[in-house]
Amino acid sequence: MQHADLVALIRDGIGAKGGEWADLGAGEGAFTLALADVAGPSAKITAIDRDSGALRRLREDLGRRFPATAIETVVADFTRPISLADFDGVVMANSLHFVRDKRPVLESVREMLRPGGALIVVEYGADRGNPWVPHPFSYPTWERLSAEAGFERTRLLRTMPSRHLGSLYSSVTYRPVASSSVT
Ligand SMILES: C[S@@+](CC[C@H](N)C(=O)[O-])C[C@H]1O[C@@H](n2cnc3c(N)ncnc32)[C@H](O)[C@@H]1O
Repeated sequence: MQHADLVALIRDGIGAKGGEWADLGAGEGAFTLALADVAGPSAKITAIDRDSGALRRLREDLGRRFPATAIETVVADFTRPISLADFDGVVMANSLHFVRDKRPVLESVREMLRPGGALIVVEYGADRGNPWVPHPFSYPTWERLSAEAGFERTRLLRTMPSRHLGSLYSSVTYRPVASSSVT
């Protein structure tokens, strides 16, 4: 996909310029670059992945293409506790489909957000996986999963055709401002 396609997928989920954002499962940073583009140079971005080599390449690319954006990289497994909090937004693009039991991960992502913070998810529009995309979830499934994990106001942003599994969608959902009753 082209950079412009990645920007189009996430743009409407990013309310204002700036803020502190995390890209969870950032890989080599295709969506981190889109995030830097949309959120602008006043944003601070933390890119998290368990692959340190991918994060090294991400830093080089981001430094070259968006030198004014503050970037931090963190090598971590997002299925384990991560002591980061108060993000205005988190992006998870093509990374949550590696997790079979998504609810505990989603609950810890919810706690990484400030109240009212946004979670943008980009995923394949399928509920049946393959060896490369083991546990995908369609948008209707995502509406249910996000609500069960205590998010609110979930909405579909974009859909795009994809060579893999037919289509891709992007969605935004929010940590409630009042503390959630789901624990
Ligand atoms: C398909 S790549 C997507 C990369 C990027 N978000 C994108 O869309 O271009 C999935 C990434 O998620 C990372 N990942 C998968 N499970 C993870 C976990 N439990 N903790 C941290 N990173 C994980 C992988 O290392 C890989 O870089």
